[in-house]
Amino acid sequence: MASNTNVWNVRNVLNWTGKYLSKISKSPRTDAEILLSYVSNQNRLWLYTNFDLKLSKEMLKKFREVVELRFKGVPVYHITGEKYFMALKFKVNDRVLVPRPETEELVEHVIMDSKKMKWKRFVDVGCGSGIIAVSIAKYLPNSHVWAIDVDRSALDLTYENAKLHDVSKRVHVKKSEVEHVDVVVSNPPYLTQSEWEELPELHHEPYKALVGGEDGNNVYKYILQKYSPKVFYFEIAHPFRQSLKDVFEENGFNYKIFKDLSKRERIAVVWK
Ligand SMILES: C[S@@+](CC[C@H](N)C(=O)[O-])C[C@H]1O[C@@H](n2cnc3c(N)ncnc32)[C@H](O)[C@@H]1O
Repeated sequence: MASNTNVWNVRNVLNWTGKYLSKISKSPRTDAEILLSYVSNQNRLWLYTNFDLKLSKEMLKKFREVVELRFKGVPVYHITGEKYFMALKFKVNDRVLVPRPETEELVEHVIMDSKKMKWKRFVDVGCGSGIIAVSIAKYLPNSHVWAIDVDRSALDLTYENAKLHDVSKRVHVKKSEVEHVDVVVSNPPYLTQSEWEELPELHHEPYKALVGGEDGNNVYKYILQKYSPKVFYFEIAHPFRQSLKDVFEENGFNYKIFKDLSKRERIAVVWK
């Protein structure tokens, strides 16, 4: 790390790192702040209230190491092992899909409707890190959520995150199906094989979390056959695919599609 200033205080370190990471990141300043928060074990607000604080040699050494990892392309959340979702902090790792902000909108729909309808029993199919199951349990205190995944490490991580948020008694981590639920929620793998091949930036994330077979619909079909809840809430690919529309219609389902804040078709609410 070279600099035209001799003082490595919080301000200068963030400025320098922001510029350095701009060569490889679309959010260099944010990356710099998250990484410095991580090595200093403080939140980002603390950085702003301690701009003039000089960093110790040990902290600078640790910071340089994580900045170099970021520079080589390692995502920030893989370095820190955590990501925020629905204002809750989740542990993440490279064996699960990293939580995406648009999935928050799916969960918000579920929570809003469930409060009105007094739904209490949920299944999250393809729980990954557990963000959906744990958020529902956290924001609906009378709920029970069964969290299911084909991947053992996803189940382990969901359990850890449920414990972290004190909802492990109401988040039931399972490898198999459950019956008699009000709502099935899922953000299934929905890329087609050819879409995935054209998106190399996703290739560091697990294949089976991303690809839903040749047409992207395999896991939707499986869920619709396997469960009979009052309603399904799915995250979907944008634009809403004709082939998925056909799956719903050919199996006698009604559906309504909602857009996310970026006006992209994102949520399918499906019922019989
Ligand atoms: C797109 S990721 C979603 C993870 C998490 N729910 C989220 O929103 O970040 C899909 C998850 O579905 C799991 N999965 C794939 N096929 C499945 C199946 N047939 N049954 C259950 N889970 C499945 C994958 O292992 C992966 O964890």
